[in-house]
Amino acid sequence: MSAFFLWGLQGILRVSCSTSEPLKVMISGAPASGKGTQCELIVKKFGLVHISTGDLLRAEVSAETEIGNKAKEFMNAGRLVPDEIVTAMVTARLSLQDAKEKGWLLDGYPRSSAQAESLEKLNVRPDIYVVLDVPDEILINRCVGRRLDPETGKIYHVKNFPPETEEIKARLVTRPDDTEGKVKARLDIYKKNADAILSTYSKIMVKIDGNQSKEVVFKEIYSLLSQVQRDEVKLLKSENSVPESGSHSSRAPVSQDKWRGIPTRLNNIPHSREIRNYFYDDVLQATQRSVNDGRTRLRVDINIPELNPEMDVYRIGTLMELIRIIALAFADDGKRVKVCVQGSMGEGALSGMPLQLAGTRKILEFMDWGDYGAKGTFIKIGSIGEQEVSEEDDVFILVAPQNAVGNCIIDDLKAMTVAAGSRPVILINPKLKDLPGSSGVMQTMGRDKRLEYAASFESCYFFRLLYFAGTQYPIMGALRMSYPYRYELYKRVDQPSGTEKYVILSTFSEKPSIDDVNDAFMGKPRNGAKKASGFWGFLSSVF
Ligand code: AP5
Repeated sequence: MSAFFLWGLQGILRVSCSTSEPLKVMISGAPASGKGTQCELIVKKFGLVHISTGDLLRAEVSAETEIGNKAKEFMNAGRLVPDEIVTAMVTARLSLQDAKEKGWLLDGYPRSSAQAESLEKLNVRPDIYVVLDVPDEILINRCVGRRLDPETGKIYHVKNFPPETEEIKARLVTRPDDTEGKVKARLDIYKKNADAILSTYSKIMVKIDGNQSKEVVFKEIYSLLSQVQRDEVKLLKSENSVPESGSHSSRAPVSQDKWRGIPTRLNNIPHSREIRNYFYDDVLQATQRSVNDGRTRLRVDINIPELNPEMDVYRIGTLMELIRIIALAFADDGKRVKVCVQGSMGEGALSGMPLQLAGTRKILEFMDWGDYGAKGTFIKIGSIGEQEVSEEDDVFILVAPQNAVGNCIIDDLKAMTVAAGSRPVILINPKLKDLPGSSGVMQTMGRDKRLEYAASFESCYFFRLLYFAGTQYPIMGALRMSYPYRYELYKRVDQPSGTEKYVILSTFSEKPSIDDVNDAFMGKPRNGAKKASGFWGFLSSVF
């Protein structure tokens, strides 16, 4: 049974278990990226057992144990303590009952590929791997200004987070490895090891911009971890409800778990049925999740070569197939769906419709709408406008609504959405930007209002391949968002075997700008001040 089908059934199956597995989280990032600061907040909210190798080692050093005496010289020099010492400490701590019961938050481990391998061998895997991303110059300033309260363990900063009272201030201490020279050495070691570790966790890695206030960083982490927790509960429910779902044993976050990565060979057109089905499933899941969450004004933007009628009008067929699948799935749930395609707009000699939509309504009429006569009952085909909204309709799916030269669809669309009220209206590949009239002049009256209306639709699915500006080959990567998850940026990598793969580079809570995409591709940390995009501009129409 497909993962998608299970999710559709979830609401109606008998549920025998609703408690989630304890969370397992790894947090990583350069020295002073804010791991310790965020761990304090995570522990307060999620009650996880915090295992910080830095803290464990510092405790050994101050207790002058054998381990502490060995570790001290490495730590004070800003070097890594030998793997066997740290790994023994971590595995011993992880095996204690509290970590098993409450879940764990591993901070500062693994820090080398050998350490990551040790955990893999023991089958210790996190649900999510959070990386805090902060520019180097900020890191140095943070380290040099850091102060610790030896009584409470609380982390302060002379400027960013000064102590609350004079009494606390008087007892604060500076870490011996927090001098500028040692921080630079630690940073170098971190960078050398980071990629090796990342390859182990790339599928569950989420990069967060750590150069924001600690509250904003925590808000992002909180929403991620809550999402992982929710997904775990859902996963358990479906596993317990449907015994055949044995394939769902991965502990990865569900967004990753259900998503099998970007399919390869996307430059080969026409796409195989497998690739098309792959995207149909992906769009359908996102749309269903949005509607089930009560969202009502939705848009899907999916642009794979096969779905781009601007290149070849015949590709409208792929779009129709996608729409049929979504419509039939809603109909299977007992909803009455109206599939709408705009008719000719304007009057007399000025009438017309976008070329890509010509004949679409006829194709829809002739399509196979299932053996049980869904068409005419659960599926109806109509146009765009207020008059199309009947009382019995539950969901409206609009096929690529767009402006034609000299004619604007937005007024009809607006009237239709008003009439639809709280019922979902889903736009598939809309193009709501103004087009110049036949005179070549753009209609400017009321433009603000039209744009505002177009922006009122919430994106529930977005997929776009990325190329160098102005080219269609080679594919450099992809940007994907599937409600309610984050925008995921992937890089396409050629493999020595002649195959290719997509590797996740970063994720974003909002649609990234061209600069964000370029920076991520060039491996630059996120930076508030943006520069011009340079020669690495990706297709500007993405954004
Ligand atoms: P460890 O203690 O883990 O050090 P680290 O990784 O270098 O990280 P830090 O503790 O320096 O920084 P952090 O990211 O926790 O930042 P913090 O929240 O404090 O390890 C120390 C040493 O132990 C290593 O060098 C190594 O020798 C050894 N070791 C540890 N693990 C090992 C392993 N696995 N293998 C081998 N050796 C190992 O924040 C920093 C400052 O910034 C604070 O002052 C804070 O107030 C401020 N700040 C935090 N967030 C923000 C924000 N959002 N905005 C502004 N300021 C902020």
